[in-house]
Amino acid sequence: MKIRRLGADDAAAFSALRREVTRENPVPMGLTFEEELSRTLDGFRAQLSSPLPNAVFGSFVEGELAGTAAVSRAGQFPSSHHKMVMWGVFTSPRYRRRGLSRQVVETALQHAFDNGVHRVNLQVYVPNEPAITLYTVMGFVEYGIESEAVCLDGKYHDGVHMTLVKSRHNRPLHPTSVGVS
Ligand SMILES: CC(C)(COP(=O)(O)OP(=O)(O)OC[C@H]1O[C@@H](n2cnc3c(N)ncnc32)[C@H](O)[C@@H]1OP(=O)(O)O)[C@@H](O)C(=O)NCCC(=O)NCCS
Repeated sequence: MKIRRLGADDAAAFSALRREVTRENPVPMGLTFEEELSRTLDGFRAQLSSPLPNAVFGSFVEGELAGTAAVSRAGQFPSSHHKMVMWGVFTSPRYRRRGLSRQVVETALQHAFDNGVHRVNLQVYVPNEPAITLYTVMGFVEYGIESEAVCLDGKYHDGVHMTLVKSRHNRPLHPTSVGVS
């Protein structure tokens, strides 16, 4: 497996992977499969060309994009530059439980913390036990819930907010611990 930062040239592979993941289960992606199909390659090219420290990382298996994880600035002004938002975490259903996400998420986190970021936040649309477990193992803790964060085909799904402070990176809480720091 190889991990590298994605760019505009990866837009088609990024879109194909997103469609594969969304077709299997749209809830984690927070939009319907039809909505995903409406997204354009130009839009993905722009997203993948966003300037550093924004970055989308991909893990490749035998040359095929198999998983991704991304971090973006939380705001344009320096007052928000201590934190980033993690998004775009998904692995092809054909390559799950092989450690791809763990490694590509770790790469994205290391990139954020290497760029002076103090905290990384994300949101998980639920139910999504695999993602909550993944992030918890990596040290993220829950700090709130947005009720009815998305509505997919008439059904509401809450969004669980999770956060990881730099000092806790690679030093996960014990699973029974509670609270946010
Ligand atoms: C969640 C997801 C990204 C995990 O990807 P993955 O490459 O299979 O994850 P990994 O193999 O790196 O797993 C790392 C750890 O996460 C946890 N985990 C992953 N899948 C799990 C599952 N189905 N059930 C429970 N824990 C799971 C485990 O702790 C696992 O470690 P282990 O295999 O040593 O037990 C993948 O299931 C996925 O793409 N789901 C759909 C999209 C999604 O939910 N994205 C997150 C949006 S916030």
